[in-house]
Amino acid sequence: MELLLLADPSEEKVRAYLPASRCFVVLNDGVVVGVCAVQQKEAGVHELMNIAVRPEQQQLGVGSRLLKWVIEIYRAAGARALEVGTGSFGYQLTFYQRHGFRVAEIDRDFFVTHYGEPIFEEGIRLRDMLRLRIEYRS
Ligand SMILES: CC(C)(COP(=O)(O)OP(=O)(O)OC[C@H]1O[C@@H](n2cnc3c(N)ncnc32)[C@H](O)[C@@H]1OP(=O)(O)O)[C@@H](O)C(=O)NCCC(=O)NCCS
Repeated sequence: MELLLLADPSEEKVRAYLPASRCFVVLNDGVVVGVCAVQQKEAGVHELMNIAVRPEQQQLGVGSRLLKWVIEIYRAAGARALEVGTGSFGYQLTFYQRHGFRVAEIDRDFFVTHYGEPIFEEGIRLRDMLRLRIEYRS
């Protein structure tokens, strides 16, 4: 939970999607250092709900390896698409785009409407969510 809350500040939301999600973890000497939760949205379409790496292990390539692994697992399983919702700016957007995700939709004011407390990243209020997608068959 501690790790999952790094990517999603709402414990209530995390607890709501966790039971129906498939979780992937990265273990280092038996300690969980990375986690990724993925939920099926519809037949063949999956949504990456959360990905996080322990702060002291960030920027060492763990997140990239975990994301690459998850993308390939769903490709190998014959999925049609993998989606993720993320903020409209910041390093997370670059992180996903570097791994092949492309912008599919913009959900304006998502973070204003769905979160009780304002969320700030790099001193800027996060308002809009970009829905990114990897289309496996294109
Ligand atoms: C996003 C996250 C999972 C990436 O994991 P990671 O192990 O740090 O990833 P990597 O080391 O493979 O780095 C991936 C890229 O993110 C960048 N990055 C990672 N953490 C960063 C930070 N705190 N500030 C700026 N850039 C960062 C890296 O420099 C790298 O950039 P590059 O591809 O241009 O070289 C991790 O940073 C994290 O847990 N963040 C907090 C939770 C979060 O925001 N999750 C995503 C929700 S949308």
